[in-house]
Amino acid sequence: MSQSIEHLCDVLIIGSGAAGLSLALKLADEANVVVLSKGEIREGSTLYAQGGIAAVFDENDSIESHVNDTLKAGDGLCEKETVEYTAEHAKSCLEWLIQQGVPFDQETDNQGQKRFHLTREGGHSHRRILHAADATGRAVQTTLVEQVRQHPNIHLFERYNAVDLITGQKLGLQNNKCHGAYVWNREKEVVEVIKARFVALCSGGASKVYLYTSNPDVSSGDGIAMAWRAGCRVANMEFNQFHPTSLYHPKAPNFLITEAMRGEGAYLTREDGTRFMAEFDDREELAPRDVVARAIDYEMKRSGASCVYLDITHQPKDFIIEHFPTIYAKCLSVGIDITKEAIPVVPAAHYTCGGVVTNQNGKTDLDNLYAIGEVAYTGLHGANRMASNSLLECIVYAHSAAKHILSELDEPMPELNFPAWDESRVTNSDEEVVITHNWHELRLFMWDYVGIVRSTKRLERALRRIELLKQEIHDYYANFRVSNNLLELRNLVQVAELIVKSALSRRESRGLHYTIDYPEREECPTPTYLSPTR
Ligand code: FAD
Ligand code: SIN
Repeated sequence: MSQSIEHLCDVLIIGSGAAGLSLALKLADEANVVVLSKGEIREGSTLYAQGGIAAVFDENDSIESHVNDTLKAGDGLCEKETVEYTAEHAKSCLEWLIQQGVPFDQETDNQGQKRFHLTREGGHSHRRILHAADATGRAVQTTLVEQVRQHPNIHLFERYNAVDLITGQKLGLQNNKCHGAYVWNREKEVVEVIKARFVALCSGGASKVYLYTSNPDVSSGDGIAMAWRAGCRVANMEFNQFHPTSLYHPKAPNFLITEAMRGEGAYLTREDGTRFMAEFDDREELAPRDVVARAIDYEMKRSGASCVYLDITHQPKDFIIEHFPTIYAKCLSVGIDITKEAIPVVPAAHYTCGGVVTNQNGKTDLDNLYAIGEVAYTGLHGANRMASNSLLECIVYAHSAAKHILSELDEPMPELNFPAWDESRVTNSDEEVVITHNWHELRLFMWDYVGIVRSTKRLERALRRIELLKQEIHDYYANFRVSNNLLELRNLVQVAELIVKSALSRRESRGLHYTIDYPEREECPTPTYLSPTR
């Protein structure tokens, strides 16, 4: 066994999306920070966010209304204190982003004054979404990347996978702390060690566990699986959000069509052009996502159609191109002119509402370990996340975690010896096909058995398959060298198990979890907490 390469820092941040980069910038004047990203620094869900970020900027709107809309979308399972905290801090967090240079769209009011253009999305009773046309995430991500690249205290480790957290318990110490992580250097193909006073998981969600997803490849639930293996609780893993409208076209799989398009008047139709949302909810196209996704699923299953249609052709051409330039260009590139024809759409896995349990400072069950952004469960989203509350949560909790970490930064770094990684495992390329097969099998049965509409029988079937996959992966992991596919598969199977177990334990239908065996709602619902045995 050879000695691993070791790095040392004050704060190790695993993930370079809105959560990770905001945290890094908030810490870096006082702390030495390492930011890890699995691929290029800009790659992650943040880059692809379209609609925008929610905050009360209009004087006719109110924080109370933002709170009430979030609670209503969350269907009885939001933590009210978290919702209030987030809505109260929304404006100052958006102002921080504006200071960093994010170019949110502006308009001129009747008095000739400039103000931010606010759009609308499902569940929001007011226009309260700041946005940069239909590519808000790109504006946020590229601005934050520019800022972190200029900061001398932020060290970027691109193309590094965090493999596992190193806890006091693993080192044989009598503490409940996280001391760093094993990380895989993808260029050199070796596992290295990063020792840190504090570690923050900012690794995004787990939507890649489903066959069809709006998310990029990096969303494989690594942070959730790592935290679970290290002894942290997770909550509400049964609540996977399916976005109602991703483009249905073989040349552009899973490209999102923003909900803001429905906010600006687009409506859903069957193939014959008839609308159907009024048959499901009074709010029609602006009902929360769970309602709209289920309505589409129902319509597709009822009629046998492969998709439904989103129609904005009744709006002026200039308006459509000005508000939705990215979607206009993407659709045109595959032969659909959205100013003249309706867009074929289907639902796709979009957002992981559950995650690693954290408190108001973003701290997990382990001392020195934080989780921020989509990886975390703060209680904000309850049984269904309201549109544009996710980027907001990333920024709000990056700020509160930074404050807490800075208040504890003078804690001395202990002298610790970390066991080196066992590099004696072999590469066995013949087995790569098995890993790829397992990948596909997992994502397919999660889509078919653990999707928009569930049943106990299907969930039990999924669990039996997960047990088998877990055993196979355990054997590979023990014997073969690390690869990206193997690491992600190991994490995805772990996350799938948490999703299915949580879904089986909820004996009601609520928010994003709908099961034909328990169609009713319980009177006093509680979040689903799962605890690992340490
Ligand atoms: P991400 O931005 O996903 O970043 C995760 C980071 O973790 C990446 O850098 C990745 O490389 C890294 N990582 C993961 N695993 C590892 C590992 N093992 N080792 C090292 N690094 C790792 N939300 C809104 O509020 N408004 C919107 O308009 C909106 N639109 C969306 C549109 C799309 C198409 C998608 C997919 C999501 C959208 N969302 C939106 C949701 C929102 O974008 C995400 O929830 C949010 O960006 C998550 O940010 P994050 O920082 O937590 O994670
Ligand atoms: C969208 O633009 O529809 C996505 C918004 C979100 O996921 O919050």
